[in-house]
Amino acid sequence: MQNKSIETINNDLLNKSFQSRSFNVLASPNFIKVEVSNICNLHCIMCPIDDIEAPKRKLTLDEFKHILSQFPFLTKIGLYGIGEPLNNPRIYEMIKICHDRNIETEFVSNATLFNETRINKLIEAGLSNIYISIDSVNPQKYESIRVGSNFEKVIQNLKTLIDCKKAANSKTPLIGISTVTMSENVKELIDIINFISTLEIDRLIITGLNTTYTEQNISIKQDFNQDLNKVLQLCKKINQSGKLKIKFFHENKAACSLPWNSVFITVNGDVTPCMNCADSSIISFGNIFQQNFLEIWNNQQYQNFRTSFRSQIPTVCKPCPDYSFDYLNSELPAKTSLVYDNTHNISCLNFTEVKTVYQINEPITIDLEDISQITSYSQVDLLVAIQRPDGRILYLTNDNSEPFSIYPKPFKKSRIKSKLRLLNLPKIPDTFQSGEYNFYAVYYKQNAPFSNLEKNIRSNIAKHTILISKDRLEGEANIYENTNRTN
Ligand SMILES: C[S@@+](CC[C@H](N)C(=O)[O-])C[C@H]1O[C@@H](n2cnc3c(N)ncnc32)[C@H](O)[C@@H]1O
Ligand code: SF4
Ligand code: SF4
Repeated sequence: MQNKSIETINNDLLNKSFQSRSFNVLASPNFIKVEVSNICNLHCIMCPIDDIEAPKRKLTLDEFKHILSQFPFLTKIGLYGIGEPLNNPRIYEMIKICHDRNIETEFVSNATLFNETRINKLIEAGLSNIYISIDSVNPQKYESIRVGSNFEKVIQNLKTLIDCKKAANSKTPLIGISTVTMSENVKELIDIINFISTLEIDRLIITGLNTTYTEQNISIKQDFNQDLNKVLQLCKKINQSGKLKIKFFHENKAACSLPWNSVFITVNGDVTPCMNCADSSIISFGNIFQQNFLEIWNNQQYQNFRTSFRSQIPTVCKPCPDYSFDYLNSELPAKTSLVYDNTHNISCLNFTEVKTVYQINEPITIDLEDISQITSYSQVDLLVAIQRPDGRILYLTNDNSEPFSIYPKPFKKSRIKSKLRLLNLPKIPDTFQSGEYNFYAVYYKQNAPFSNLEKNIRSNIAKHTILISKDRLEGEANIYENTNRTN
């Protein structure tokens, strides 16, 4: 904990969990997708939208903030699922909240609802990346795939997006095109690439078809291989030369890491492993509006799902086009590279309802609770760290004569039985710097050296951020309060 940042430790743990295909993950996801609307104005032929029976709705801003509060280590968020994200009028505020927290944002859109006002609002909110779905550059073919859309209008909207970005002199959003490969367009991919190359586009992502509901397009693998290989050659050539970068699903498939580092959250709050599993009536690990995410992330169903990757392709993953399953035949890294809990139960630490904006001289209390039901770890030390606005880390002790230590010291030498008060100051002293304070808490193996936290970690790393302000502007405080709600 001393040399590496806590964010880095969380990322390393995510990687190690994936590499060892562990059944539990102590780290918190750094990338999630949140479905902000499951309502759509189109009926694309390959899309599962009309097969998914979940109630149609738009995510509220409060629900979005609640979701964000459950992912303290987020670096990137996809604001879309099955539906058109621009149907949600609160998407601009959602993007702004993420932008203010340095969380990269992106979404894919059918671009039918674009106009200058909306595009400028997206740019102003700080959207990082936007992808427009175009599956054919032949207007009739496009309109037969994207039923309800109009090719000319969508291309015009794309040009308006490029123009508005230029007029705003903004580096963001990065503009991309997303194309789904299917039997209808596989012979046209070269035309699509050539057409896109003439526009000022940064990325082209050519994905495979998820066949959960659509045609069993497995023939793509045999009959279309020749076409796909030609496309591959062209992609390689373009990637070497120009500004446009193409990502092609047929190339460099890797093992899927999403069950170990990411989640998809439907507009109704259901947690599934990915957007390829967007129908929560087929797979869902829990509901984030009803449970704390930490309880879902390592519950029995999630652990079973992760474990199943060790020996076979999980049934829900069979129609997935994006990942290779070759690794099933290769040897996995040693299990010992990660902490394994034989009882499948791990400890979950959570900061409870605490304010997020404080002023000097205000009283402050910070509480922590252990929400794990059962765990096999009883011999633990509790470490609590505070990162000050200048980046320095102090360790909270239970010793009144030295409440903060610059050296790691356990706050408590056992598990928490109920809620634990970590900090209780009648007044924040005016010697405190104003700015952001990050609170972290983690269990680790009793008496283990702090230098090797990753190996000795025994719970998630709980994180909570507060703002201490000397003379804050009312508006700024409101934004902060709104973006840091804890559950
Ligand atoms: C479901 S849409 C939601 C966003 C927006 N409505 C759009 O069409 O861009 C997200 C992406 O999934 C793609 N898609 C739809 N059906 C698919 C399928 N069966 N397999 C793979 N991708 C699919 C769409 O083309 C789009 O690029
Ligand atoms: S526009 Fe997007 S969400 Fe709507 S039907 Fe088409 S692919 Fe599905
Ligand atoms: S469906 Fe695909 S993306 Fe989702 S978990 Fe399975 S392999 Fe990964």
